Amino acid sequence: MINIAIFGFGAVGKGVAEVLHYKKELIEGFIGKYKVVAITDSKGSLIDEKGLNLMEAIKIKKNKGFSGMKTLEVIEKVDFDVAIEVTPTNVHSGEPGLKHIVKSMDKGANVITSNKGPLVKAFKKLERLAEKKGVSFMYEATVGGAMPIIKLAKNDLAGNEIRVIKGVLNGTCNYILTRMEREKMTYSQVLSEAQELKIAEADPSYDVEGIDSAAKLVILANSIMRMDASFEDVEITGITKITPESFEVAGNKNYTIRLIAEANKEKGFLKVSPRLVPHHHPLAIEGTMNAALIRTDLAGDIVVMGKGAGKYETASAIVSDLIEIYRRD
Ligand code: HSE
Repeated sequence: MINIAIFGFGAVGKGVAEVLHYKKELIEGFIGKYKVVAITDSKGSLIDEKGLNLMEAIKIKKNKGFSGMKTLEVIEKVDFDVAIEVTPTNVHSGEPGLKHIVKSMDKGANVITSNKGPLVKAFKKLERLAEKKGVSFMYEATVGGAMPIIKLAKNDLAGNEIRVIKGVLNGTCNYILTRMEREKMTYSQVLSEAQELKIAEADPSYDVEGIDSAAKLVILANSIMRMDASFEDVEITGITKITPESFEVAGNKNYTIRLIAEANKEKGFLKVSPRLVPHHHPLAIEGTMNAALIRTDLAGDIVVMGKGAGKYETASAIVSDLIEIYRRD
C-alpha cells in the first residue's frame, strides 16, 4: 500500500485529489493499492492513516476549511511514502515548498512537485539530497503543465545532448498576445480577461514580466541541459510594453510576436523576451497553449505542444510522475 500526502490544496491539489479518486482503478492497475493519508493547506490539515475520502476533503475545504496540524508537523508525525508538494510558488525564497520537500526527503519519502520555486532556488541541493536518501524527485508539472517535456527529454531522448530549448512556456502571456493580435485590444484590457481563465499566477506580474517563463527555463536548463543555471542568469523582458500596433508592423511581414524563453548551451545564454515568430512556425501557437522546440545532437529538432496550465492538465503531469515512480510492469 502506497501512502500519499498532498501538501497544498488549491486548484492543483484538488485536481490531483479528484484524479486519484476518479481514476483509482486505472492508476492502481499501474502501481498497486494507494491511499491519501494527509492533505494540508496553509491553515491546517486533514489526516486519516486509513485513507481520506477525497471528495469529502474537497467539501470540507470549501465549507469550513482546514485546521489543526500544519504541514511541517504533519511531515514529522504522519507516515507517508510520497509527498505531492503543490503549494504556491515563490521563485525568490522557494518557500514554503522548499522546506516541505527537504523535510519529506529527509524522512525518506519520494517527492513529486509542481512548485517551481524550490527547483529554481535549490535544484542541485534537492537532487543531491534525493540521491543521498535514495528517494525519487519528480517535477514534470513544474514546466508546461500537461505538455510532456522533462520525462520526454530524460527518457525518450536519453543519449542525446540537448543543445537548445526554445519555447512558449507561459499560457497567460500567450493568451494575452493572441487576443491583442486578433482583437486589436491593449495589454491592460486583456490582462483581466486572462486572470479570469484562472491560469495566471496569484501575482500576475510573475506572468507578464516574464518571471514565470524564466523560472521554467532555469528548471529545464538545470534538469535536462545540465547548465548549472540560476534565476539571475536569465535576461528577462516581459510583454508589458507590447502594443496592438506592434502586431500590425510584424503582421505586414508575416510574423507574429510571442514571449520566447530560450536556453542555449552552445552560445551560453538564457533569455526570455518577446520575439518575432513567422506565422507558420511551430512556436506561433495560440491561446493558452505552451510549445517547445528541443534541439538535440542525435535526434535533431523535436517539437512538443500542449496545455501549459489548468488543474487537470497539471494533475496529468503529477499522476504520470507517480506512475513512473511506482510502476510495476
Ligand atoms: N501562470 C502560468 C501560465 C501557469 O500562465 O502558464 C503554469 O505555470
